[in-house]
Amino acid sequence: MISGKTVVLGVSGGIAAYKAVDICRRLIENGAHVVPIMTSGAKRFIGEVTLSALASEPVKSSLWEGDDPIPHTTLGQQADLILVAPATARLLGTYAAGISNDLLTATLLASRAPVVVCPAMHTEMWEHPAVQDNIRTLQNRGVFVVAPEDGKLAGGDIGKGRLASTQSIVSTVERALFPNDLEELKILITAGGTREPIDPVRFITNRSSGKQGYALAEAAVARGATVTLVTTVDRPAPTGVEVLYAETANDLRSVVMSCAENHDVIIMAAAVADFKPSSTANRKLKKSALSTNLELEPTHDFLVDLGAGKLPHQTIVGFAAETEELEKNAIGKLKGKNLDLIVANDVSAPNTGFAHDTNEVLLLSDGDKREVPLSTKRVIADSIFDVVLDLRKNK
Ligand SMILES: Cc1cc2nc3c(=O)[nH]c(=O)nc-3n(C[C@H](O)[C@H](O)[C@H](O)COP(=O)(O)O)c2cc1C
Repeated sequence: MISGKTVVLGVSGGIAAYKAVDICRRLIENGAHVVPIMTSGAKRFIGEVTLSALASEPVKSSLWEGDDPIPHTTLGQQADLILVAPATARLLGTYAAGISNDLLTATLLASRAPVVVCPAMHTEMWEHPAVQDNIRTLQNRGVFVVAPEDGKLAGGDIGKGRLASTQSIVSTVERALFPNDLEELKILITAGGTREPIDPVRFITNRSSGKQGYALAEAAVARGATVTLVTTVDRPAPTGVEVLYAETANDLRSVVMSCAENHDVIIMAAAVADFKPSSTANRKLKKSALSTNLELEPTHDFLVDLGAGKLPHQTIVGFAAETEELEKNAIGKLKGKNLDLIVANDVSAPNTGFAHDTNEVLLLSDGDKREVPLSTKRVIADSIFDVVLDLRKNK
């Protein structure tokens, strides 16, 4: 997708600078023209020769040396995209403040191209309010931020701050270059928890708020898709989305099955009840008539039907909300239901899952696993679509 695009690759001075070599290689393999800029900090961590040899042009690092009398405007205007990986706290702060004191920050300010920054630093630095304020400022200006991941850090520490994977960084570069990357697709998304009535006033339900399904719908329309949202909750839907309502697992099944074949991507984010009352009273049951034992029967798992009847043009995504053995259980569902992707989350972990605005998920497909660290549900939604696009490219 990025073939022929000029990507200015800014590398700043953190331990993760060595990973810029892999990112550069991946961009070159995908056909991009990569122009590397290193800060003086970056040169303390990796040799200029390595990047010069792998990139499309030799490394640039000075405003004052070289043949071009105004290098920052040339680079800023040539760039189809500027990627900074890794981005130090210093680089983020300087860029957010609009200060240009080296070639990289001057190029960032002298460009109208989309910008992707990939912070990497120790957890204490990443969580510092000044750094977080700078991140928000940049995001509000439309800069794409690829959040760092949890894991091993320099000096043996463990925590958040590791540079995101090359795969996530390259996917974000593609999205920044092609904002309408879902334009060709018809996407069906389900959202919310189903309600299984006992009588006209009582029902069985679950804790699903529908927030993840709505975030998926928002991301999909923003990226140009035609979206149908089948929902059990009454929340304002993003403009441009066709909204269909359902209440019970049975309703949801009939709505989804009636329009499934017209859709290229089906994402089952709704929490569909596994059981429903064996009978539903037409009138409110008197307290005295209510039994202390409620007889239940299983609902039909129509995700199995969708998987079994999957058409060649379709990609089917399921969700696995688990409280134990997350990966194992999720892989069981992925295979057992013939899905292309399963979004697994541990709903017992803090700030994740039902009703929260944030989530932390594993995206599991055949032979591939991507971790999305604690992020907003919109960021999770975009990561899901990045993987869906990769899966469809490799089909
Ligand atoms: C060993 C070592 C590792 C460092 N790692 C990081 C890092 O991962 N992230 C970061 O923001 N700063 C890190 N720093 C601090 C930066 O190198 C320092 O702020 C420097 O001025 C950044 O320069 P630059 O932004 O111009 O590249 C590290 C410093 C040292 C000595």
